[in-house]
Amino acid sequence: MARNREPLNLGVNIGKLQLASPIVCASGTFGFGEELTGLVDFSSIGAVTTKTVTLQPKAGNAPPRIFDSGCGVINSVGLENPGLESFLNDTLPKIKKLNTKFIVSIGADTAEEYAEIVKKLDDVKDVEALEANLSCPNIKNKKIVSQDKEATYQLIQSLTSLTAKPLIVKITPETVDIVGVARAAASGGADAVSLVNTFFAMAIDIETARPYLGNIYGGYSGPAIKPMSLYRVWRAAAGLEIPVIGGGGIVNAADAIEFILAGATAVSLGTVNLVYPNKAKDILGGIKDYMVKKKIKDVRELKEKVPSEGSVG
Ligand SMILES: Cc1cc2nc3c(=O)[nH]c(=O)nc-3n(C[C@H](O)[C@H](O)[C@H](O)COP(=O)(O)O)c2cc1C
Repeated sequence: MARNREPLNLGVNIGKLQLASPIVCASGTFGFGEELTGLVDFSSIGAVTTKTVTLQPKAGNAPPRIFDSGCGVINSVGLENPGLESFLNDTLPKIKKLNTKFIVSIGADTAEEYAEIVKKLDDVKDVEALEANLSCPNIKNKKIVSQDKEATYQLIQSLTSLTAKPLIVKITPETVDIVGVARAAASGGADAVSLVNTFFAMAIDIETARPYLGNIYGGYSGPAIKPMSLYRVWRAAAGLEIPVIGGGGIVNAADAIEFILAGATAVSLGTVNLVYPNKAKDILGGIKDYMVKKKIKDVRELKEKVPSEGSVG
């Protein structure tokens, strides 16, 4: 299809964060970006969200940590990462040369730890935004903060005053009130919400009667979760005053467009990166083709084209 007869606008704003493309790579599925140098067209990617970084290095959960269910993967990586100091000293100097922006995903066990990480990252150049991961499903004995709207509000309110950088809140799909949680994040001062993280899941080897994952259970992602993710993004985005980065199961341009029509300002690619790390380029091309076909010049015009509940006849 003929492209670029007239320039298309693919840029979107996630609060103060300006992205040249509406495609964001989801945390934990793209390493720190640097590992994919030479394999990926970084200019197609609005931003890479890093693997979640914690204050201290984390070894993660016992192996095996990934199970391929055929239509998705169950992972129990457990936030393995080198820790904040190593990220700042060893990783950041390498990734800042890449032709994209970086959102640093942060994780912690306590509000104090979150605060310490946020303060340390606040004046770090080349970190464009922070994503507070309040939704990891596979850390034993740890509550998922984003299952609780009051806890989400309290934590985010305490963090937003500590940083001038945009703060995104990553939300679990495993809550009975995803609308309430997204609104609590917004009331706490978040610049955007990102959803969904993975769904609780497990798989059992019937020969040994043992779970496949060393952690017994993990988080489910990939094509199988797309309809459930899409529903949650549509619900959460309706009437929300801050942007949504929407995803969960996106594998092609049609999937990405569905999320934008449902109300996402930007879309996140996760599991698909594990198989096709350069998928963002392909998906961005498909979004452009769709815009040309529909005679739409600005990707922002696609947002929330799907009616909210009550307005469907
Ligand atoms: C192997 C793996 C590791 C992940 N690690 C993280 C992580 O560190 N932090 C986080 O917020 N999400 C993590 N996620 C969740 C993804 O960012 C994404 O929210 C989820 O996989 C749903 O999107 P998808 O179906 O496109 O993969 C991980 C997902 C996978 C598959």
